[in-house]
Amino acid sequence: MDIPHKALVLGGTGRTGGRVLTQLLGRGIPVRALVRSAARLPSGAVGSAGLEVIEGDLLSRTGAAQRSLVDGCGAVISCLGHTMSIRGIFGPPRDLVTEAIRRMCEAVRELRPAEPVKLVLMSSVSVFVADPCDARRGASERAFMRALCALVPPARDNQRATDFLRETIGTNDPFLQWTVVRPDTLREGEISPYTVHPGLVSSLAKPSDTAMANVACFMCELVTNAATWDTWRFKLPVIINATPV
Ligand SMILES: NC(=O)c1ccc[n+]([C@@H]2O[C@H](COP(=O)([O-])OP(=O)(O)OC[C@H]3O[C@@H](n4cnc5c(N)ncnc54)[C@H](OP(=O)(O)O)[C@@H]3O)[C@@H](O)[C@H]2O)c1
Repeated sequence: MDIPHKALVLGGTGRTGGRVLTQLLGRGIPVRALVRSAARLPSGAVGSAGLEVIEGDLLSRTGAAQRSLVDGCGAVISCLGHTMSIRGIFGPPRDLVTEAIRRMCEAVRELRPAEPVKLVLMSSVSVFVADPCDARRGASERAFMRALCALVPPARDNQRATDFLRETIGTNDPFLQWTVVRPDTLREGEISPYTVHPGLVSSLAKPSDTAMANVACFMCELVTNAATWDTWRFKLPVIINATPV
């Protein structure tokens, strides 16, 4: 086990982020959670000795306030997502995920940690990379996803955040390593057997299920298990349940 000093969790009041918080604390990992409202934290995490809660708006923090979020953390896990309402999908901030990731990377680089910080981004199978890893997605699916990205800001945001990590941060940054975790259709349910793949597995017409508990479990493994990290860093693993819900 490679236990980070502390993990910063973004989106810890969300459906998956709440599970990440609870599972990290259950493994004895101290967690710093930046949330808009502590009242929405999962009851299983509230009051935990290992939990440090900071209330505020990530995108209004700059400079020292931004760096202080990441300072002392060996891992950053983002489970941010746009609220599923007309305002959440089409209103500001349309670039929530991209801007959060960009700012966290900026803060880490300014802090110049002795060991690279592990950044885990929860994303989606809507995100595509045009290399052998996603060869499974044919021309018609790619055209559909391009249209989706053009019309639906959260889909575009997820793609841009991934493109930023791949193209701007890359694989040689001395202070930062990353992975983009891509679940398929999110489902409720307990931790269950799951599989992790280097590229897309299912078609858009016949999606797979992914339990949020399994996404959380895999993200916890990434930041606590050196072998898991070495396998998936700088990649975009797709995680699906081993058996349908
Ligand atoms: N739905 C699916 O089937 C599916 C499938 C694959 C991947 N995904 C992706 O998975 C990710 C997480 O999904 P989820 O369902 O677990 O998320 P969720 O329950 O909707 O939680 C979203 C989190 O983001 C925070 N957030 C939203 N808007 C914010 C803002 N303007 N500023 C700061 N924080 C903000 C929320 O905080 P508050 O509590 O303060 O609102 C919450 O903590 C998303 O990126 C989504 O695209 C979804």
